[in-house]
Amino acid sequence: MNKGLFITFEGADGCGKSTQLNLLAEYLTQKGFEVIVTREPGAKGLGENIREILLNYNGEVSDRCESFLFLADRAQHIDTIINPAVETGKILLCDRHTDSTIAYQGYGRQLPIDRIKMLNEIAVNGRYPDLTFVFDIDVDTSMQRVGKNKDRMESAGKDFFNRVRQGYLDIAKQNPQRVKIIDASKSIEQIHKTVIELFEQLLLKQHQ
Ligand code: TYD
Repeated sequence: MNKGLFITFEGADGCGKSTQLNLLAEYLTQKGFEVIVTREPGAKGLGENIREILLNYNGEVSDRCESFLFLADRAQHIDTIINPAVETGKILLCDRHTDSTIAYQGYGRQLPIDRIKMLNEIAVNGRYPDLTFVFDIDVDTSMQRVGKNKDRMESAGKDFFNRVRQGYLDIAKQNPQRVKIIDASKSIEQIHKTVIELFEQLLLKQHQ
């Protein structure tokens, strides 16, 4: 493979995306691919510090400040981890990326979506995922899975998470080639199988 692949995993908190990311990473490693696993917020290095503020800061955080922190984390992540990996032929699996900001800050916090998209463009500087999985789950189930120990973002409430879910569904409708919705109420094995099928379709497309 000359150029690597950039694959993102998206969905509401508790949707099971991290489990699926790890399963795909294992599968691909066994197949002999070079795989990098990373996440937003909280990639190695500075990202870990930004994550700490975003999830655990106790005082007031304005919605605009929150957006810029996610975007600052993204710019650093793109420049220091994502681009170097993809440009050297790795498969990079990323837990959350640009679509999280559209769904959470745009739909969830109700900031202007066009502006969030514009800021995302600045943060990613031309690097977009080749494939995005959105693990779709109803809000009651996702909140149950998160449980009582909620971080700052998870404490946002049910209306917020209904809007986030709608955000992801709209993103998928607007980007049918890149974004694939997966029913996250299915079993872990069934979902893993679907993830592999979609990954293989992407590989076929790359070789056409
Ligand atoms: P994390 O513990 O990584 O949650 P999860 O395991 O569900 O990914 O926390 C990340 C939180 O940050 C999550 O609630 C989603 C939120 N988030 C945004 O609001 N905007 C963003 O741009 C990103 C990347 C994440």
